Amino acid sequence: MKLGVCYYPEHWPEAQWAQDASAMAELGLTFVRIAEFAWSRIEPDPGRYDWGWLDQAVDTLGAAGLRIVMCTPTATPPKWLIDAHPDVLAVGVDGRPRRFGSRRHYCFSSRTYRAHSQQITRAVAERYGRHPAVAAWQTDNEYGCHDTVLSYSQSAAAAFRAWLSARYVSIDDLNRGWGNVFWSQEYRSFEQIDPPIGTVTEANPAHRLDYQRFASDEVASFNREQIGILRELSPDRDILHNFMGATLSFDHFKVGADLDAASWDSYPLGFLQQGAWPEDTKLRFMRQGHPDFTALHHDLYRACGRGRWWVMEQQPGPVNWAKWNPAPLPGMVRAWTLEAFAHGAEVVSYFRWRQAPFAQEQMHAGLHTPDGARAAAWDEAAAAVKALHALADKRAAGTCLDMRPAPVALVFDYAAHWMFDIQPQGADFDYLQLVLTFYGALRRLGLDVDMIPPGAPLTGRRLVVAPSLPVVEPSLASAFEAFEGSLVIGPRSGSKTSAFQIPDGLSPGPLRRLLPIRVAAVESLPPGWAEAGAHPVRRWLEHVEPNPNADLSVDARTAAGKPIWLNTGRVHYIAAWPDGDLLDAVLRRACGDVGLPVLDLPDHLRLRRRGDVRFALNYDAAPLDLAAHIPGIAEREFVIGDTRLGPAGVAAWIDP
Ligand code: GAL
Repeated sequence: MKLGVCYYPEHWPEAQWAQDASAMAELGLTFVRIAEFAWSRIEPDPGRYDWGWLDQAVDTLGAAGLRIVMCTPTATPPKWLIDAHPDVLAVGVDGRPRRFGSRRHYCFSSRTYRAHSQQITRAVAERYGRHPAVAAWQTDNEYGCHDTVLSYSQSAAAAFRAWLSARYVSIDDLNRGWGNVFWSQEYRSFEQIDPPIGTVTEANPAHRLDYQRFASDEVASFNREQIGILRELSPDRDILHNFMGATLSFDHFKVGADLDAASWDSYPLGFLQQGAWPEDTKLRFMRQGHPDFTALHHDLYRACGRGRWWVMEQQPGPVNWAKWNPAPLPGMVRAWTLEAFAHGAEVVSYFRWRQAPFAQEQMHAGLHTPDGARAAAWDEAAAAVKALHALADKRAAGTCLDMRPAPVALVFDYAAHWMFDIQPQGADFDYLQLVLTFYGALRRLGLDVDMIPPGAPLTGRRLVVAPSLPVVEPSLASAFEAFEGSLVIGPRSGSKTSAFQIPDGLSPGPLRRLLPIRVAAVESLPPGWAEAGAHPVRRWLEHVEPNPNADLSVDARTAAGKPIWLNTGRVHYIAAWPDGDLLDAVLRRACGDVGLPVLDLPDHLRLRRRGDVRFALNYDAAPLDLAAHIPGIAEREFVIGDTRLGPAGVAAWIDP
């Protein structure tokens, strides 16, 4: 459990580096990430490399005992490259090339860019791959940031045609799969197919889904190219990528499969302001962030890194990019840091050492202000160091701090997001919000959750929750059938084939053996409308016909008699966008059936176990008493804090 920081030597006079480096080490930081946007300084002119300054920076940081996370600078192709090869640029949905002057302006499918990305990766890796101070790598920076996965360039169109022809082989199969007989959309060859933009009304959803799958694969193969070079030239160093929050535009499990560890960039206050929460939620948690959003991403990226993950960028104060940018509650930066460790992080690295006085992010806080004075977050990082020492002492004395599989698994499906995004049917049917609704309900019960991709083994789990799985592969249906714990399945599951068609016999398709129902119709409900009943239904309601001969009970209905909670005992189906009370009732029953103990936590208190230590985090601006919520807590041995949690307070106790 180590701390780190993001540092930009190229932003500061060389004379300052040694002092910065020793201050980092004194603060107790271990890692320093550098160079992810430094291409124009590394290769100022085509083929002319200027290593002097970076050699100096690497040596200076290394001499202070810091371990360097070196980056490939490919998120910022320099001006000379763009001018020489305009085909490097991504093309927007308006059909126009994106312009130079910020970052991430490249197209993943540009063959020219692939070649240059490999070339600069090789150059940096040859130079630093075996440097003793270089401990790890970050590929590129935040794939997908600023909406950059989908590009509609000519290179992308050509690569898409090749991808389609490999997938379908025969154009007739593609026409059938996409349903191209509709509106005379039939093609006679793969060469005739363009990216799905510029159409008069909506493009064919199957066409869009395949474009999304193709683009996601392009991200993975771009990343894989860099990884191949780094593995060759920098053996025994971990390779990471820093994923973003609330970004589902490519399959992070696929990219993660090639990495040694995942990482993500956690900006709880920025994400809260940018998110779709009600205004009162945004005000209530304005200085803390949403109590489940950050943790959900910790759990998701732990899964993407197959157990290994970092926070590569941790918000230290106000950011610059949200609509409003408040300051964190005093103590919150420390709390976020410890929360990440509670969820199994190996490293938490602050963004950034010193606030830049220039350019786009001059209003973004760091651990220091632009004049070099300590900013508010500095003390919090120092406080986090202390707490980590307390944990390290316990570990040295034999307390286990290794992550264990959680009893609850939540199946997270990137393709579900793509499908609901392409064909929402109700404007507010948002996959991530649906997942967050399930995840938050589980955490209010005090449960730890592991995210898993569709198809991951279910052995050892006691409860498996699938908020929605529109496409259920037969193998997944069989795994669900073989699973012996409780299963909770959300709306629209089994509602589509992988070709984006309605399955034979209607929804829930391949899940019918498990769930003997037929979803005869669905409706989405505009904001302001609630379908009356003990559990009022908003957003989404399915008209379900249970098989009258099956052993199935209906445990909740709308006032008009529509079943919204059906169960076979072991398997529960929620045929609506779940309201809080309904979901709570379903999950309590599902947990009770498998003997999983639950709590009843307020919306601002969250727990997480790491090995033998359980952490509690107070997301409220008022103090709270753990004894009011956790039976027997007073008798526990505390490693951090005690039963009284101040605002943004963290406690950790031994709970083997
Ligand atoms: C991240 C990005 C950083 C910086 C930061 C500001 O998305 O990786 O380079 O822009 O946001 O919050």
